[in-house]
Amino acid sequence: VKAIRFARYGGPEVLELVEVDVPRPAAGQLRVRVHAAGVNALEWKIRRGDLQEVRPLRLPAGSGGDAAGVVAELGAGVTGVEVGDAVFGSGVDTYAEHAVLTSWARKPDSVSFAEAAGYPTPLETGCRVLAEAGVTAGRTVLVNGASGGVGSAVVQLAVDRGAHVIGVAGPANQDYLAALGAVPTTYGPGLVERVRALAPNGVDAALDIAGSGVVPDLIALTGDPGQVVSIADFTAPRHGARVSTGFGADKTPALREGARLAAAGRFTLPIAARFPLARAGAAQAENATGHVRGRVVITVR
Ligand SMILES: NC(=O)c1ccc[n+]([C@@H]2O[C@H](COP(=O)([O-])OP(=O)(O)OC[C@H]3O[C@@H](n4cnc5c(N)ncnc54)[C@H](OP(=O)(O)O)[C@@H]3O)[C@@H](O)[C@H]2O)c1
Repeated sequence: VKAIRFARYGGPEVLELVEVDVPRPAAGQLRVRVHAAGVNALEWKIRRGDLQEVRPLRLPAGSGGDAAGVVAELGAGVTGVEVGDAVFGSGVDTYAEHAVLTSWARKPDSVSFAEAAGYPTPLETGCRVLAEAGVTAGRTVLVNGASGGVGSAVVQLAVDRGAHVIGVAGPANQDYLAALGAVPTTYGPGLVERVRALAPNGVDAALDIAGSGVVPDLIALTGDPGQVVSIADFTAPRHGARVSTGFGADKTPALREGARLAAAGRFTLPIAARFPLARAGAAQAENATGHVRGRVVITVR
């Protein structure tokens, strides 16, 4: 079967479409015939070699952590799903015609494979950071980087929890954020003042999704570093705020929550761009612009 591999760290051009053996699911896993794979920043950071000190790879390595497809093989002990079912979820080397998933949920019929392929990481990350920041009904939460993949999910999940959401994105995404249910504002100088004007009673929690160096501003707005969580700014702990990484987290509850909300028409992640499997490098480069509305997706079939 065809899959993307890279034999050395580098730019998008190191990704190659090659022929590999069909991957086999271990106990508790399943194999899907991939219809589409979602593209995440972590994947081009790994490809570039940013993580080679902390997580060295055995090269050649595959790429991709999210996919939607049809179940082709069940690992030992897997129940509640059958060969032929449409699912989406997280796994390994998902930029491929076949991939092993380690967590999954049923794909709602009303959601395309391409859209569902973009769901897993934003859903898991979104549910996790909202829980870590204690975002519940009636709380006011600020989301910095609200119109990308993770941000769009965080906004919708927070709105669903009954929170008041202030979303930060560029000028072109203000109407989009309002449509997701957030009060929009722009990034750049004057952020603290703009948010104070929008939330005169204060901000209970602030989530830094963009990693754009605003953790001190977010602490000024919450008045408490303990109420600030970043997923992309590793200087946050220097200011007393947290970084959430999610390594080892059980993704299944978030995937199921997302499937339920999407089936009810209360969750969607727009597809900003689609690329064929052979152009996986271009898909990662598009994601790496940092200005994608919703998701970049690799369509496999
Ligand atoms: N730790 C974890 O568990 C975890 C999990 C998933 C992702 N991440 C990381 O989180 C980051 C975001 O991921 P993503 O997939 O959501 O990225 P993305 O889709 O590229 O989203 C980028 C978002 O940031 C906004 N943005 C760009 N420049 C900004 C600025 N200066 N200030 C505020 N917002 C700005 C963009 O808005 P405009 O387009 O309007 O400019 C867009 O809304 C990545 O670094 C990724 O590696 C971490």
